[in-house]
Amino acid sequence: MNINSCRNTHDFRALAKARLPSAVFHYIDGAADDEVTYRRNTTAYEQCDLIPNVLAGVETIDTSVEVMGMKLALPLFCSPTALQRLFHYRGERAVALAAEKSRILFGVSSLGTVSLEEIGQTISSPKMFQFYYHKDKGLNDAMIEMCQEANFDAIALTVDTITGGNRERDLWTGFTSPPKLTLNSLISFALHPHWSFNYVFREKFALPQLEKYVSQGSNIAVSIGDYFSNMLDQSMDWKDAEEIKQKWGKKFCLKGIMSVEDAKRAVDIGADAIMVSNHGGRQLDGSISPFDQLADIVDAVGDEIDVICDGGIRRGTHVLKALSVGAKACSGGRWYLYALAAGGQQGVEKAISNMKNEIERDMKLMGVTRLSQLSRKNLKFR
Ligand code: LAC
Repeated sequence: MNINSCRNTHDFRALAKARLPSAVFHYIDGAADDEVTYRRNTTAYEQCDLIPNVLAGVETIDTSVEVMGMKLALPLFCSPTALQRLFHYRGERAVALAAEKSRILFGVSSLGTVSLEEIGQTISSPKMFQFYYHKDKGLNDAMIEMCQEANFDAIALTVDTITGGNRERDLWTGFTSPPKLTLNSLISFALHPHWSFNYVFREKFALPQLEKYVSQGSNIAVSIGDYFSNMLDQSMDWKDAEEIKQKWGKKFCLKGIMSVEDAKRAVDIGADAIMVSNHGGRQLDGSISPFDQLADIVDAVGDEIDVICDGGIRRGTHVLKALSVGAKACSGGRWYLYALAAGGQQGVEKAISNMKNEIERDMKLMGVTRLSQLSRKNLKFR
């Protein structure tokens, strides 16, 4: 299998599995506890069916949406995800350039492996920074300044990682950032010489947003669970969220809102958007899926704030279902990370193009020419 024969997320996942050392693959692919929530994030879409209209004159369609005032060519974007240099040696650069080509929103993590400055110089399309609220307040202020200097459009404050999720695959494989050299990891590196060559001989792995303030994750190997539990500030509350929003002064989003009460509080502090998200099932297993919770949240705050449905998306029809309920857009991590691991920028471009083709085809089959024509009349829940 190669990039061109990857027709969907499942194909990219298989190729990523073949190309990555197993600990790295399972870091992307894994989730918390029994991974019930991770699976539910996708299967929730199968509990609801689309009801198409026909004879609608769908020769010309428009797939664009507006989120937080940004015009995006597709209703699906790249959620921020950490450590991309481990998945492909070009890391966030590859994803940023692919996102720019298709004019979709690109999110970069506090635990990103390319500097915000470089991302800002590399692409002119919409970019969002994923903010992790650290104990070190100097680091928090510095990250806001980096976003301002690099001319980022939005900050998403992550609110669902107050402590590390129980990611048992990572415990089994011993995955850390950066990867530790153990007998098992050396065997796995030897079995993936292409990845290992790029890891050893290309640019050194680094976490440029953090490196002046913390050594964990770059010079000191830690699991992501331990990073969250030890480095992030567990006293974070609504006042802190509001303060970050004020200091930043541009578009502000909360990533990881799941309850109606919290969605209303997000409106109260003046957030521009919320990402309804359980962090890809990687934090609280047994928690509800974004799609299952979407209608209640849209009913409560959909007129006041942009609601983004994050996670579990594997098909264009999933996006159309979420938009029919009232989401402004969808986002996700694994759908493009598998492709990044499988083939760098070219891989991500193919993943975006697959999704674009699916969304276009599905819109036509649904009988809509604009995404705003989708509504709950198009859906039947089982
Ligand atoms: C994760 C974080 C880093 O591993 O987003 O889920």
